[in-house]
Amino acid sequence: METNVPKRRDNKKSLRVKVISLGNAEVGKSCIIKRYCEKRFVPKYLATIGIDYGVTKVQVRDREIKVNIFDMAGHPFFYEVRNEFYKDSQGVLLVYDVGLRESFDALDSWLGEMKQEMGSQANMDSIVFVVCANKVDLTKRRVVDEGEGRLWAESRGFHYFETSAQSGEGINEMFQAFFSSITDMCENGGKRPVSEVSVGFTKEQADTIRRIRNSKDSWDMLGVKPGATRIPVGINTHASTCHHILLWFSVLFLCSSSFFGLTRLILHKLKPAAVTSDLLWTEGLLLFGGFLQK
Ligand code: GTP
Ligand code: MG
Repeated sequence: METNVPKRRDNKKSLRVKVISLGNAEVGKSCIIKRYCEKRFVPKYLATIGIDYGVTKVQVRDREIKVNIFDMAGHPFFYEVRNEFYKDSQGVLLVYDVGLRESFDALDSWLGEMKQEMGSQANMDSIVFVVCANKVDLTKRRVVDEGEGRLWAESRGFHYFETSAQSGEGINEMFQAFFSSITDMCENGGKRPVSEVSVGFTKEQADTIRRIRNSKDSWDMLGVKPGATRIPVGINTHASTCHHILLWFSVLFLCSSSFFGLTRLILHKLKPAAVTSDLLWTEGLLLFGGFLQK
């Protein structure tokens, strides 16, 4: 499959890469880029019309990287403009607003739109993704916590950063990790190195953890209907079967030893000489049977 390895220029140490920003309208994509490139924050909302383009140069180890940034408009209205720009990207900034759950839930559909528009070129393993949980300065209105965001990102092998374009928190660290990973990927023949980001969850495991975290009660957490019994829930079924066998065995043992003891007692009354020390042994059995049942 084709990879997005950028073309090297004459100087072997320099690279030219393309990155794009994705996410719902107003989550702060343009402000994050502005904070990094221009070290300033604009509180007034100025919607991106279609695409904003900018270039910046960064140094990663001994390499000079020329970064072409395509800042996409998040409004659905600009879909036709956006879809031209997905191809040949080496990096994607996926941004959501921690105070707006729908912007977090929309991340899957942004990935979907990207895959669809890239078509046969969609090799997600040769693209570095960074998830920005933005506007963390607005703590009181936060509805998506760090664990949830991090799990979504890291279970897909994406980086995760908490950012605030307003205060600057996390912005430089995020871009440094972003550009450094893109450089690593290019040096790795266009394959995204997985080890540094992955936490070892499969997508299924991550989905289960997410279900547990979002469940409204204990039944929901186990994925069963309210009132389900122990066996269908499947908790330690093997141990519970063993326990049942042991219980039945001790009941059987108790009944037989009681019967045996009673017979001996009646015999002893009728013919004392016929029953001797066996009686003591039977009483011992009775005691042991009672202990087992406990
Ligand atoms: P579109 O271009 O329409 O897709 O939006 P966008 O994602 O580029 O959003 P933009 O960067 O224009 O920011 C939207 C609004 O959120 C603006 O009013 C910003 O001032 C504000 N904003 C962005 N980042 C932050 C942040 O970290 N904290 C706070 N408090 N506000 C922010
Ligand atoms: Mg914008």
